[in-house]
Amino acid sequence: MSGPDKYEILAELARRRGFFWPSFEIYGGVGGFIDLGPLGASLKRRLEEKWRDFFVRRQGLLEIVTPIIMPAKVFEASGHVQHFKDSMVECTKCKRKYRADHIVHDATGMETEGFDLNQLDALIREKNIHCVECGGELTSPQYFGTMFTTTIGPYSEAVGYARPEAAQGMFVDFKRVYEIAREKMPLGIAQIGQALRNEISPRQGPVRLREFTIMEFEFFFDPEDPRCDRLGEVENERIRIVPLEFREKGVEEPIELTVAEALKKGYIKQPWSAYFMALSKQFVYELGIPPEKQRFHEKLQTERAHYSAQTYDHQVQLERWGWVELAGNAYRTDFDLRGHMQTSKVDLTVFKPYDGPRKRKLKVVVPISAAIGPEFKEHAGEVTRKILEMDASLVEESFSKHGFLTLNGFKVLPNHVRIEEKEVSESGKRFIPHVIEPSFGAERLVYAVLEYAYSIVKDRVVMKIPRGLVPIQAIILPLVNKDGLDEKARGLHRNLLHAKFDVEYDESGSIGRRYARADETGIPVAITVDYQTMQDDTVTLRDRDTWEQKRFQISEVIDVLHRYLSSTVSFEDLESKR
Ligand code: GAP
Repeated sequence: MSGPDKYEILAELARRRGFFWPSFEIYGGVGGFIDLGPLGASLKRRLEEKWRDFFVRRQGLLEIVTPIIMPAKVFEASGHVQHFKDSMVECTKCKRKYRADHIVHDATGMETEGFDLNQLDALIREKNIHCVECGGELTSPQYFGTMFTTTIGPYSEAVGYARPEAAQGMFVDFKRVYEIAREKMPLGIAQIGQALRNEISPRQGPVRLREFTIMEFEFFFDPEDPRCDRLGEVENERIRIVPLEFREKGVEEPIELTVAEALKKGYIKQPWSAYFMALSKQFVYELGIPPEKQRFHEKLQTERAHYSAQTYDHQVQLERWGWVELAGNAYRTDFDLRGHMQTSKVDLTVFKPYDGPRKRKLKVVVPISAAIGPEFKEHAGEVTRKILEMDASLVEESFSKHGFLTLNGFKVLPNHVRIEEKEVSESGKRFIPHVIEPSFGAERLVYAVLEYAYSIVKDRVVMKIPRGLVPIQAIILPLVNKDGLDEKARGLHRNLLHAKFDVEYDESGSIGRRYARADETGIPVAITVDYQTMQDDTVTLRDRDTWEQKRFQISEVIDVLHRYLSSTVSFEDLESKR
């Protein structure tokens, strides 16, 4: 019989030590929700802070906060009402519901993401797939909209949705933030917040939740000038990617190449995408996940979200689930801004001035009154106004395709208009910015960090969480609770708290047990107050990763902790400055 897998071991540790556990435990739990305990909440906060530092601060993004509940119009405009759905089957016997692509994947091992209802139905019948719980027959798959629906206020007609991504708040606010940013382009808007998705049958703990925290930004740029002026910083960074070209040939093994090569070969369409993918790799590496456990997996057209022209999922290898997406990198083009512009009728274009005025030939549609008057009589004015609003190329296209044009129900023929060319002088042009979107899920990061931190040293669990992310930075341990050692230790504890360290005090149990507890919670430094402390004011610092110990003056501890926690200096190289 095989033992528990890493997820089961970590889930048990997480519950016992206070990283995370299923929500609503006393009521039996509800799938797809987890609570973060004191350690998990702190780890998540540090991950958010790191993301902020890495992307928002260093890349000069502007962070905003927008509501979680949004009126239906927003998601109609963004295409989510139409497209944000998953395939679902029901067991005809026990009535259990499953995500159709997942149940087929689990039964066959096939990559079923993006399969349509007919493909899934055919596979269910062909492969004789039945209910996992009772063996009952499954219905034909149907779509299930995965946005949570509500009403806003007491008006049943005021439908609202809980946002499944933070992105739409940033698109809706684009114009205002653009103005606040003194109309600078490119422009990045960032947001961290809750996202809700009514997942059909989430069974993957922190990896698939109905409520999770999303950390994403929308990077707006001019599609006619897509250069990335920061590319030089990362062009030699090596990334492992599985481009579309490979996947279409059935190859799922990544190739490793530099960012510059990936762009040159056309595997990544946009330079800004490539730049952020490189940063994403560095970010995940700093969370303790080595490069060989990361890859960028391009989505097939059938797997991509409705708004995306190219998506690379940034995946990491997890023991139970294999390659799991930590972040999506989508090239959203002008899809969202265009949708909001059409629905809201608000101009979301930006103006790009030329160096000097430019002359341009422009085609215009001119109504011919002599032909329009007799034909449309009392409607002639209305038809003329509509003709003047028309784009000449659309008029030409309609004439060549159909031989006429329909305006407000009136049939306009080529003899009713004349297409003329005019020369106009322009000082600039208006365009809808295109968007690159890197998007991380915080709970998946929490779990991935824990899985990669988990290690066994001499039969003991040591959580080697990177020092910059640890929930508790140090623990103060009096060797014994007498002879003034405990008082001295409490004094040091208070001083470190005032110096803004997250430190704990522990006096219960043998020193060995306390070290073991600290290792299992990932505390990088244990500070022991012993009898020598009472004589020379020194304490021992014990390193979680090497179990090595060094003595420092109490007066040096703040400086030593600062140096150790905020850099990659090894414990061995930490020197006393006495
Ligand atoms: N705005 C883009 C967007 O929402 P996504 O790939 O659907 O893209 C981004 O989600 C990230 O959010 C994912 O890479 C993943 O880390 C996280 N995520 C998505 N669905 C999740 C779920 N059900 N539970 C936990 N995290 C999830």
